[in-house]
Amino acid sequence: MWSPADELQRFGVRLTDPTLLMCQGLIEGRWQDPPSGSTFPVYEPSSATVLLNCPNFSRQDLQRSILSAAAAHTSFYASTTAAGRGALLKKWNELILANKEDLASILTLENGKPITEARTEIEYAASFVSWFAEEATRSYGDVIPSSIPGSQVFTVKEPIGVCGIITPWNFPAAMITRKVAPALAAGCSVVIKPPSEAPFTALALAKLACRAGVPGACVQVVPTRDRAAASELATNPAIKKLSFTGSTEVGKHLISLASKTVKKVSMELGGNAAFIVFEDADLDLAVQGAMQSKFRATGQTCVCSNRMFVHASVVDEFARRLTEQVKQLKLGPGHEDGVTQGPLVNRSSVEKVAWHVQDALNLGGELVFGGKRPTHLASGFYFEPTIIKKASSDMAVAREETFGPLAAIFSFNDEKEVVRLANSTPFGLASYFFSRDLNRVLRVAKALEVGMIGVNTGIISTAETPFGGIKESGYGREGSKYGLAEYQVLKSVTVGSLKH
Ligand code: SIN
Repeated sequence: MWSPADELQRFGVRLTDPTLLMCQGLIEGRWQDPPSGSTFPVYEPSSATVLLNCPNFSRQDLQRSILSAAAAHTSFYASTTAAGRGALLKKWNELILANKEDLASILTLENGKPITEARTEIEYAASFVSWFAEEATRSYGDVIPSSIPGSQVFTVKEPIGVCGIITPWNFPAAMITRKVAPALAAGCSVVIKPPSEAPFTALALAKLACRAGVPGACVQVVPTRDRAAASELATNPAIKKLSFTGSTEVGKHLISLASKTVKKVSMELGGNAAFIVFEDADLDLAVQGAMQSKFRATGQTCVCSNRMFVHASVVDEFARRLTEQVKQLKLGPGHEDGVTQGPLVNRSSVEKVAWHVQDALNLGGELVFGGKRPTHLASGFYFEPTIIKKASSDMAVAREETFGPLAAIFSFNDEKEVVRLANSTPFGLASYFFSRDLNRVLRVAKALEVGMIGVNTGIISTAETPFGGIKESGYGREGSKYGLAEYQVLKSVTVGSLKH
């Protein structure tokens, strides 16, 4: 009998557990096909061919899903303790790690990232599940001294209800668990709209959640390419919380829709990260940080450094050392041995990088390395890792995130000037800087207008670190001790007329 996993053999991939590759949605607690029979193609980015056709559910199917998630939420919260929910998450975490290889294979096929990076993402995804398994049991309220004689005030934290979860394709596993694990820990149910470019990792994770004992109706996954789906999640009155990771443009639209029913929202939106190398920086460390923060996921993370500001006295040396490292990157299909840079996710991503490169060159940028689509990998969505010097603020790369492997190097002369340049964007997600001067470290960390800063490092994403932005990069924090509260409501209880 045919199974979707058989199709993976065309790409040289065989799953240990083929049942993890689901071509159905998880709706009303059971795996099902869309009544319409509709599907949409999901592409394998290194060959630009169809990987599999995914079921395409309608807005009505999504409404059914929300309705059943609302009923499931009530019984889930009533029938579990915080410790019980923590135990379910611990089991889910174990299953994710036990199936790491299969999950990473599915992820690489639909997203394109190298298998080594996909394995790291699965570990990163699991770390949110284990983190919130612990946090579930540490959700304390307060006892508040009352100003009214004979009264006592206390607070409790309760689950907010059904959560609409909209996730991006660049981290098909980690962005699911960073939202779903705290929601389940709080006692909520979720309805997930996975990315249409990469829905299968989400479905596999949901399958493992069910195996861990999470009721299927509490972790519903509704794959769809219907644009109305996000609007449904933002407007349906049964959805009490909307968590979205994606572009600022879409985020703003969802915020306005969600305001009609005054939903709680978390928005993790676009960035335009500055990466600053001061004259006193350890240049090798700065180059290592640049490689991590620029080329992770082929430049497709919202915290990727986008504008590299390097002090004029070290800019040529920095560019030389960065070029040496970039030359070591091996571009190719994610499943091939030794590959360290995968393709981009689709054709329009390639076109955007090509346009940023061309625009920078037209406006006086100097090409140091790369700069084009590789001819030997013409069939996939590839673009060469690229370095451009002499970038300037009139270039598109200064204003918009490239979301691809372009390192644009600007030079600067003094600290005040570079802080002003770094802050001269509507976005405020992440920034990085490199310096050995402690006074400068504290001064610049205070002056940068972003939600997250990496000092002498290009890696800022871990389960324990609050993740989120300010300005038009959104609001709400994911991961960390703050992530659980995004899925809870605080209730205060005043007990009066107490007799002594
Ligand atoms: C993102 O790009 O949305 C997430 C990146 C991360 O978690 O580091």
